[in-house]
Amino acid sequence: MDPRKNPYSPGAGQNPPEFAGREQIVEQADIAFDRIAAGRYAKDFMLLGLRGVGKTVLLNHLHRMAQDKAFETIRFEAPEGGLLARNIVPELRVVLRRLNYLSAAEHRLERAATALRNFASIFKIGYEGFEFGASAEPLADSGDMERDLPELLIAVAEAASARGRCIGIFIDEVQYLTTEELSALIVACHEASQRSLPIIFVGAGLPQIAALAGNAKSYAERLFDYPEVGPLEDAAARRALAEPARAEGVAFEGEALDTILSITECYPYYLQVWGKYVWDNAAQSPITRSDVDRSNDEIIYHLDTNFFRTRFDRLTPLQQQYLRAMAELGPGPHKTGDIAAALQCESSRVGAVRERLTRLGMVWSLRHGETAFTVPLFDDFMKRAIPVLEPYVPRRRQK
Ligand SMILES: Nc1ncnc2c1ncn2[C@@H]1O[C@H](COP(=O)(O)OP(=O)(O)OP(=O)(O)O)[C@@H](O)[C@H]1O
Ligand SMILES: [Mg+2]
Repeated sequence: MDPRKNPYSPGAGQNPPEFAGREQIVEQADIAFDRIAAGRYAKDFMLLGLRGVGKTVLLNHLHRMAQDKAFETIRFEAPEGGLLARNIVPELRVVLRRLNYLSAAEHRLERAATALRNFASIFKIGYEGFEFGASAEPLADSGDMERDLPELLIAVAEAASARGRCIGIFIDEVQYLTTEELSALIVACHEASQRSLPIIFVGAGLPQIAALAGNAKSYAERLFDYPEVGPLEDAAARRALAEPARAEGVAFEGEALDTILSITECYPYYLQVWGKYVWDNAAQSPITRSDVDRSNDEIIYHLDTNFFRTRFDRLTPLQQQYLRAMAELGPGPHKTGDIAAALQCESSRVGAVRERLTRLGMVWSLRHGETAFTVPLFDDFMKRAIPVLEPYVPRRRQK
């Protein structure tokens, strides 16, 4: 079929042609935004899911919704290793400029500007050319992130409230924040909600955030809703494939859809990848099962050389070996002890490797003592990448 008309969109953060299966979370957020706008309490959100399930796309969707409801918003992706201050200062500066534009400056805006200026200065973030006058009030300037960030965000929320506006804070890849930054953010959300300020936080990231947040502040559990962003349900996955084609006057045979759903396990990124290749390879409508069968090798080759390989190449030999041992046992999840046994060593010896792989988003554990790959089909790739599993050899004895 004509590649110029190919509707599918495999790629990080790429808006899918049919945004399927997230209706419940969208509805939940819609209600929360309206409640905040009406001066009522609503929980903050942390969208949790593995790599490639559609967290960024969903976060962007919720961000646009908040903008449509006239929220003043900031949105950024936390870089690895934190640096929250560097990201948040320029974003909040834009918000304050917009609030300032809404009407003449007054006391609350002045305070927020002071807080931002002090915060930027103490965390060594450039703020040259800052337009607002700022008083000498000691605000958000202790150098302790856990005190300063809440003070800053509360000052900004109060300024917004004085203008009759709401603030939405959208942060992707929250797991990359440092423990201190995450704590500061949780304290800020907590204090803002206690004061009924018109501010809502929506974060997204890997599932371990729930534990990280809970460890940082035990009350985080009650502060956030943690909607799970996972593979799509069967009907939604069918829609994600069939609707974009239908809009171009192209149909899928039921068997073709069944096959794609079964291979991809309804994993959103793969749905887009299969959609794209199968479309390009099909000669005419309807797309058949044999079009899918003919495309599979090419798709796997594409995933091997791009998606899987880029992840694999970032790992140390020991981390690769750990994943290879998991692959030996099948798609998983696997008992952590069984993986160690496949490596012919004790669990405690490879605990640190497993922990690092979890932080990198390569493995995760739904239940204690279990380890699973974060994306389907990775086990097969590992067997292709490392055909033979070698036993674990402690580093000092490695040549
Ligand atoms: N609801 C959906 N319906 C159909 N396709 C989707 C949906 N959500 C996401 N996708 C597709 O899945 C792919 C991955 O989406 P996205 O980048 O948002 O995932 P992610 O969870 O943020 O991944 P990562 O953890 O790697 O950042 C994209 O190609 C996107 O078009
Ligand atoms: Mg993402």
